Amino acid sequence: MRLDKLLSQMGKATRSESSKLARMGKILINGTPAKRSDVQVDPDKDEIVLCGVKVTYKEFTYIMLNKPEGYVSATEDPHEKTVLDLVDPQDRRKNLFPCGRLDKNTLGLVILTNDGDSAHRLLSPKHHVSKVYKFETKLPLTSKDVLSLEQGVDIGGYFTKPCKIKLETEASGKITLTEGKYHQIKRMLEAVNNKITYLERISFGKIDLDPALKRGEWRYLTKEEEEYFIDKSI
Ligand code: URA
Repeated sequence: MRLDKLLSQMGKATRSESSKLARMGKILINGTPAKRSDVQVDPDKDEIVLCGVKVTYKEFTYIMLNKPEGYVSATEDPHEKTVLDLVDPQDRRKNLFPCGRLDKNTLGLVILTNDGDSAHRLLSPKHHVSKVYKFETKLPLTSKDVLSLEQGVDIGGYFTKPCKIKLETEASGKITLTEGKYHQIKRMLEAVNNKITYLERISFGKIDLDPALKRGEWRYLTKEEEEYFIDKSI
């Protein structure tokens, strides 16, 4: 692939920056300065060093993020901060997007990737990938409420699929869903005349939010998590 394409895909330099950096002798290919940025390189074999830092090419990137409040799950927004703003600019590679949406005031696990096929497979309703959320409600939940929520409630013309609820107090617990309609949990609680006051996603399929990540922090998925994410048999 072309050197400038590699650097732009990895979010390291735009094509015109690459061209300038090459002319300045700041890009080494196997130890030799690249004279031009449009040369062909083999990402698996050639060693690329940009301004003294090795650039490792990977076709796909998978990031786990602990979303704080106040960020929207989008790639860009004219008025709001997006979850992508939390990734350091040098690691914000091209075409990264959040795999699924959390509301602006929902916290917790968001996976960012540029692997559209895997993300769409995991988000597709037919795959029933479970997502677990910690929640708190304004009012106590009765056992009748829990039963209704677990069996499915009408959230405005849509009847939710069965889900699981494990109460920890009478107004907090964990809810496991296998679908993700817009504002689903908030609307489900409204359907039983209650209100969500805290919502945090703590797992997505087999991927759990890393407790070592503070709000706003991120890390790459581990090899095991990555294998799960790309597993076509799910
Ligand atoms: N359900 C909601 O209501 N909001 C979220 O962010 C996620 C699930």
